Amino acid sequence: MTPTAPGSHIAGKLGLTDRVFAGARSRSLLKTVEAGLKRVDDALEQELRVTDALADATSRYLYDAGGKRVRPMLALLTAQLGDGATDEVIESATALEMTHLGSLYHDDVMDAADRRRGVPSAHAVWGNSVAILTGDLLFSRASQIMARHGDRAIRLQADTFERLVLGQMHETVGPAETDDRVEFYLQVLSDKTGSLIAAAAQAGVIFSNGPEEFEGALMTFGEKAGVAFQLLDDVIDLSADPDETGKVPGTDLRAGVPTMPYLVLGQRTDASSLALRDRIDEGVARIADGADPSLLDEPLAQLREHPATEATLDLAHAWSQQAVDALEPLPDGAVREALTRFAQAVADRSS
Ligand code: IPE
Ligand code: IPE
Ligand code: MG
Ligand code: MG
Repeated sequence: MTPTAPGSHIAGKLGLTDRVFAGARSRSLLKTVEAGLKRVDDALEQELRVTDALADATSRYLYDAGGKRVRPMLALLTAQLGDGATDEVIESATALEMTHLGSLYHDDVMDAADRRRGVPSAHAVWGNSVAILTGDLLFSRASQIMARHGDRAIRLQADTFERLVLGQMHETVGPAETDDRVEFYLQVLSDKTGSLIAAAAQAGVIFSNGPEEFEGALMTFGEKAGVAFQLLDDVIDLSADPDETGKVPGTDLRAGVPTMPYLVLGQRTDASSLALRDRIDEGVARIADGADPSLLDEPLAQLREHPATEATLDLAHAWSQQAVDALEPLPDGAVREALTRFAQAVADRSS
């Protein structure tokens, strides 16, 4: 395995750097991307400054807590298809990562999640209102950064953010009676997560003046890889190891947020699947009434071992393969190879 370069601790948490940049011809690409990630991190550090002391503290709170920087890494990679890490690439990657960061503040309120990036979530520290307003502040800042780069950048930001928000909205409201629940949920994943990852993959090529004909392919690539990434997130939600994930296991399901393993379980009609589904539903209802969330520990452990979770992993691999297939128009070379490895790594991760 390629040793992780100094400064790569962030993406390295996913083992992503090692995996994406495996192989001799990726070594110089790794150096380039690492240098870009450092610039993005410095830019985030700067752009998160707020004169108001409380807002300053709340805004940099989750930034300081870590994060894998998956989205900037993608932008930096696809920028290598054009003129490389131009200032516009760095700034757009910064704005997209800041959008992601803001969405985490909001998401933890919506999911009633107590931990994020290994620390208590922002609403657990400052309450819901401050957490929501901090997310809003970060969205404003992200727009300010994009506004420096003209209409294309503003549109990318606005269109992506709209999709992210609608994805979160549809997840919250849930499917109509007539909707296929799995199909509905896959659309939610595309919107809430695929959209931003697709925007990052696209931003690299757009703002490095790369070939226009790659934009569509990279958008599809990011979208598919994003769904695979989020499907793994659902499996990770069932993980028994909070030290590795930095989150509380089963947060989403305990809060009644359906995830793919649960939905696949719901498609099964054998007696033991039906019984497990009933136990989870009953537990969710009792937790909503104030019961101790740990009452779902045992059913969630069973779900983790259930074929429905295996089927979710298979689905993640299928989406990851579609992402790889989307790269067809790109030239052979280190960038395409790294993107291929990226799509494979996101569908095969534990944090
Ligand atoms: C978490 O994203 C939220 C999702 C969209 C799944 P990441 O797993 O990229 O979170 P960080 O940035 O590494 O904390
Ligand atoms: C997060 O989705 C998606 C966005 C923040 C837009 P999840 O709620 O599934 O992600 P985690 O598990 O909290 O990171
Ligand atoms: Mg969440
Ligand atoms: Mg959520």
